[in-house]
Amino acid sequence: MNNPFLPKPARLVAVREETPNIKTFVLKPEEEFSFAAGQFAALTVPGVGEAFFTPSSSPFVKEEIEFTIMRVGRVTTALFARKEGEVLGLRGPFGKPYPLEKFIEKEVFLVGGGVGLAPLRSLFLALVAEIEKYKKVYLRYGARTPKDLVYKKELKEWAGYKKCDLLLTVDVGDATWKGRVGVVTTILDKIPCDVRNSVSVVCGPPIMMKFVTKRLLEVGFSPKDIYLSMEKNMSCAIGMCGHCRLGRYFICQDGPVLTWEQVKEIEDPFV
Ligand SMILES: Cc1cc2nc3c(=O)[nH]c(=O)nc-3n(C[C@H](O)[C@H](O)[C@H](O)COP(=O)(O)OP(=O)(O)OC[C@H]3O[C@@H](n4cnc5c(N)ncnc54)[C@H](O)[C@@H]3O)c2cc1C
Ligand code: FES
Repeated sequence: MNNPFLPKPARLVAVREETPNIKTFVLKPEEEFSFAAGQFAALTVPGVGEAFFTPSSSPFVKEEIEFTIMRVGRVTTALFARKEGEVLGLRGPFGKPYPLEKFIEKEVFLVGGGVGLAPLRSLFLALVAEIEKYKKVYLRYGARTPKDLVYKKELKEWAGYKKCDLLLTVDVGDATWKGRVGVVTTILDKIPCDVRNSVSVVCGPPIMMKFVTKRLLEVGFSPKDIYLSMEKNMSCAIGMCGHCRLGRYFICQDGPVLTWEQVKEIEDPFV
């Protein structure tokens, strides 16, 4: 029987530095591993422990899987010390994917902050792979400084993709930065899509998610069309321990993406 607690081996084949404290880890699973955009997985550093991350790569690429990870504590610090060729553990996938069937024929408005662009990259790549199904894809992304922007090279390429519209901002600019300056909500001053036929997907720090949601509601997005990544602390990831409880939801089972319609009655769902 498949034991959901048993990690499968996955070899680290490449590590890309995105920012001073964010890296993308490319893993080659030694057993079959597939996921849909929005689902998450547990990465195990042998001898240290495991932590949960959402793949940042395209779900259509099966041989390799990428995770973009910010160094914050014990597991991520150990992960940052791992070298290409070493074997890690991979458990999952867990949670529900983005409901792409509900995005068909619509404009999809993605809003990311910091390392929150990681799951949105997976979603963006899934959308552009079948762009004929969607009306248009917008990406609004902000980081603290130009150095903190992830996927710098790709962002330039994505801006030229068919039916895609990108806008970036940084909280604080520098001599190299010619773009917008201000927190993410400042680039939501104009939302060019038809909100009656659009969905929005938001991922970033809790405070950013709170103010972006407020802005999306102000311009007329329906609560059921605002999808929020609720990255609560998890333990079992299979609905048994209750660690990830948010109101009546278990984020590992019902999420990690919930709509504003689902969480709006919960007192400060972004904590
Ligand atoms: C569904 C889901 C998807 C996620 N996807 C991603 C992703 O794609 N990329 C990503 O980077 N993260 C992601 N996360 C967050 C990620 O799981 C956590 O950052 C990770 O668990 C941290 O593990 P850790 O052992 O390194 O940190 P821990 O040691 O568990 O620390 C966790 C927190 O405690 C704080 N902390 C740790 N040590 C100290 C200390 N000495 N003093 C003060 N504070 C301290 C850290 O700042 C951090 O905020 C996701 C989380 C979930 C639930
Ligand atoms: S992490 Fe155990 S119930 Fe969700």
